[in-house]
Amino acid sequence: LIEQPEISLRDGGTLPGSWYVDDEIFQREIENIFDRVWHYVGFRGHVSRPGDFLTTTVGLTPVVVTCGDDGVVRAFLNVCRHRGSEVVREPFGQRKTLQCHYHAWTYDLDGSLRKAPRSEDEEGFDPSAFGLRPIRIAFAGAWVFVTLNDEAPELDTLIGEMLPLMKDTSLDFDQLVFRERREYDMAANWKVVIENFLECYHCPTAHPSFTKLIDLDDYEMEIHDAFSTFNGPVTDAALQKNTYHVTDEDTSRQRLYNFAMWPNFMFNAYPGPGNVSTNLVIPINPNRTLAIYDFFFEPHVEDAAAGEIVDFIDLVQQEDIILCESVQKGMRSTRFGQGRLFVKSEFLIQNFDRQVEAAVSH
Ligand code: FES
Ligand SMILES: [Fe+2]
Repeated sequence: LIEQPEISLRDGGTLPGSWYVDDEIFQREIENIFDRVWHYVGFRGHVSRPGDFLTTTVGLTPVVVTCGDDGVVRAFLNVCRHRGSEVVREPFGQRKTLQCHYHAWTYDLDGSLRKAPRSEDEEGFDPSAFGLRPIRIAFAGAWVFVTLNDEAPELDTLIGEMLPLMKDTSLDFDQLVFRERREYDMAANWKVVIENFLECYHCPTAHPSFTKLIDLDDYEMEIHDAFSTFNGPVTDAALQKNTYHVTDEDTSRQRLYNFAMWPNFMFNAYPGPGNVSTNLVIPINPNRTLAIYDFFFEPHVEDAAAGEIVDFIDLVQQEDIILCESVQKGMRSTRFGQGRLFVKSEFLIQNFDRQVEAAVSH
């Protein structure tokens, strides 16, 4: 039986503590949220040449995206039709075929089963019936998305408003060059991780360097249907000191832009030399979550500056991990009950929690 909030979410109540530890809630989230939404996979530039591939996990489902010899980008369940192993286990790269690491069933980049050892000895085996299962794919700017849901509305209809807002960053997303990936395995529920991202009420206490860089008195947050945005200018002090290579001259690069797409994908453009960091939050079990950060820069950005920005974002993330894991201890205590948001600062969390509540109760 699912615990219902005592203070309604409309009045600032949080989700009940049990929702962050319970297996039944977790399973409902996988089925009612992750199995239905458009889910971020990765950078379009990672699947631009024949043989390129990208993998991710949508809820609990492994997915692979390939660029075929015909240049067509396709998405499949990354689940072998033989006995169900993942076929590809690297995050991205180049391959001529997709050969399963278990018994070497080998699929073409278009998903068809090319060969399986000893298949000629197996009577009545029809390889054409055992290709990888295709799933829907769509693109939004530089990003690749997939969905397991045949009935999901077109991605464009959900994020139509987002692409013009991305222009505010004055970055050319198509020109971005991938620099590195960092992964963070956290002992916290995936919702704790997202909620932490959706407010900056904690920034003055928990992020001293961030607070020196971004003017928190001038921070703006906005809710759209399928995503939220929040952004703020750099502080005068940071401008004077050229913190993280922010300069007086380049007025287009003096703001932090954050985008958070329902349910688990965020991307940020920090002030200073052209940079974008993506943050994909992958639920593993009720008490464990993986955050995958990819760091991209405009081609002209020098290594030293890029490295400093990556380290800065990594530092903020390390500070956030401590917070999230600490919250999870409260959730696991079974004595938390329910929390109370300050809606003026935390209305993006309220909005997120209400979406979760609706999906889980459905
Ligand atoms: S599970 Fe993939 S070849 Fe056997
Ligand atoms: Fe934070």
